[in-house]
Amino acid sequence: MTVRYAAPGRINLIGEHTDYNLGLALPIALPQRTVATFTPACTDAITVRSDQVNGAARIPLDTTPGEVTGWAGYVAGVIWALRTAGHPVPGGALSISSDVEQGSGLASSAALTCAVLGAITSAAEVHLDRLEHARLAQRAENDYVGAPTGLLDQLAALCGQPATALLIDFADLSVRPVPFDPDACGVALLLIDSRARHTHAGGDYAARRASCDRAAAALGVPSLRDVHDLTALDALGDPITARRARHVLTENTRVLDFVAALTNTDFAEAGHIMSASHRSMRDDFEITTAHIDLIAETAVRAGALGARMTGGGFGGCVIALVPAAHAQVVGQAVRQAVRAAGYQQPVLTRTHAAVGAGVLG
Ligand code: GLA
Repeated sequence: MTVRYAAPGRINLIGEHTDYNLGLALPIALPQRTVATFTPACTDAITVRSDQVNGAARIPLDTTPGEVTGWAGYVAGVIWALRTAGHPVPGGALSISSDVEQGSGLASSAALTCAVLGAITSAAEVHLDRLEHARLAQRAENDYVGAPTGLLDQLAALCGQPATALLIDFADLSVRPVPFDPDACGVALLLIDSRARHTHAGGDYAARRASCDRAAAALGVPSLRDVHDLTALDALGDPITARRARHVLTENTRVLDFVAALTNTDFAEAGHIMSASHRSMRDDFEITTAHIDLIAETAVRAGALGARMTGGGFGGCVIALVPAAHAQVVGQAVRQAVRAAGYQQPVLTRTHAAVGAGVLG
């Protein structure tokens, strides 16, 4: 029996690089999604095709890390993670279609791994709860592909709901729905794709994660979540490590402040907090680029309530909250500034919180 399973990309509204520090984040699921279509067969491999790449990859069911690389490595990682956890994986044919842009900071990898995992387990009648699903998809990415990412993207893809943001507390992995419908208040959520691409299997993401681990170790705590006072960071000798940790601590506070602003439907305040988050990523965590900074700053100067890069960093997308009546002016200003600076033209869309992953009927 053929199964189709869809998993969306995500925007993280706020709370960047907090997940692996057991902190807080507030993502939404996007309308863009990856669909995995799986037809089991009596064979000892899964043959996978994607509408974005020519040709097919044949992945033996007993694949081990290092064997399959590139985009198919994420699929191989799912097969490996399921089997090493003791779940049955049938052979068969898998096809992938997606409108989540790869390397755009919208969690295309998690959309892919969560969709493949959902299709295979549904076909094999293996029942996983959302947390197990998220952890196995993360394991595929961490231990097969070698990208040391946290659980943000998978939980966002699996738990997303329309008109809702998800307050995730990574200390206990609780997910609390927070109403998020700016359109209903005359505010647009703009997604500005810089078209500058990144990968988290490269060294920068891992370097930031290592800095955070160093800071926690030097402070003698299991994770930066256990540091409650910014003055504690004075004990860190290395100023760079201290700045990285300061971003994580202040970002956790901003997530809660942002949720409070949403609860009061105060989008002006929510916008200020987003811009403060961008500055923290720019100055303390140092994961933005001149290109991304230009987009965020131009959007605010042209009338956005606030703007910030979303995702792991070093390229990708900026999000902005904009009074709907100014959305066009903001878009024009961003296009013009980017053109004048000689960067690629961005792609702008007005977006919203959409439904999370699931089997398609
Ligand atoms: C990437 C990772 C996530 C998270 C974000 C930064 O999207 O996959 O786990 O760390 O970066 O917030």
